[in-house]
Amino acid sequence: MSKQKLLVATNNKDKFKEITAILDSLNVEFVSLGDIELPEEDGKTIEENAIKKSEFGFEIKKMLTIADDTGLEVDALNGAPGVYSSRFAGENVSYEDNRKKLLNELAGKKLEERKAKFRCIIAVSGLEKGTKTFEGSVDGYITEDERGNSGFGYDAIFFVPEIGKTMAEMSPEEKNKISHRGRAIVKAKKYLENYLN
Ligand code: IMP
Repeated sequence: MSKQKLLVATNNKDKFKEITAILDSLNVEFVSLGDIELPEEDGKTIEENAIKKSEFGFEIKKMLTIADDTGLEVDALNGAPGVYSSRFAGENVSYEDNRKKLLNELAGKKLEERKAKFRCIIAVSGLEKGTKTFEGSVDGYITEDERGNSGFGYDAIFFVPEIGKTMAEMSPEEKNKISHRGRAIVKAKKYLENYLN
């Protein structure tokens, strides 16, 4: 019997790698979007954006689809950049531009004021009951300087006290175990294991 297909609806290669690594033991064939561009992330919340991406993928490919959306919420900035995390320094900026802007905004702030949280919503569409969402988060601090070369996005300035490293100092396996995305995907994986059997 051929394997069930699972579309991973992201245009971000880093995310595709992380999501498929965590879901590796699911008995599915991963499908990517290829050249198809996701619609604009114009939702007011990361939940809305995750659902928009997974429902778009399902409509286009007519197969079970998984998508995520992530926000970095910094206490001292009242939860910003949040849903605007990818465009914090402006439209079409690099990961580095966003990290620099955040370090500048927090310049001179003490550790207590550098508290932050990564929050991820995973949405799965194409289920019998429509779309389902799963949430994961990880608490940490924004460092004063960049540390580590792995990962992507804000990883080099996000310190996780329970591990004692920034996310960019962790191996991919270490990051996936404790990350917002890892935690949300593990919940989705448990659901899909039951759903697919
Ligand atoms: P997105 O809207 O889900 O693509 O995520 C918004 C932004 O958050 C991305 O552009 C990245 O800069 C950042 N981001 C998402 N996931 C991670 C992560 O696992 N580590 C560090 N930064 C991330």
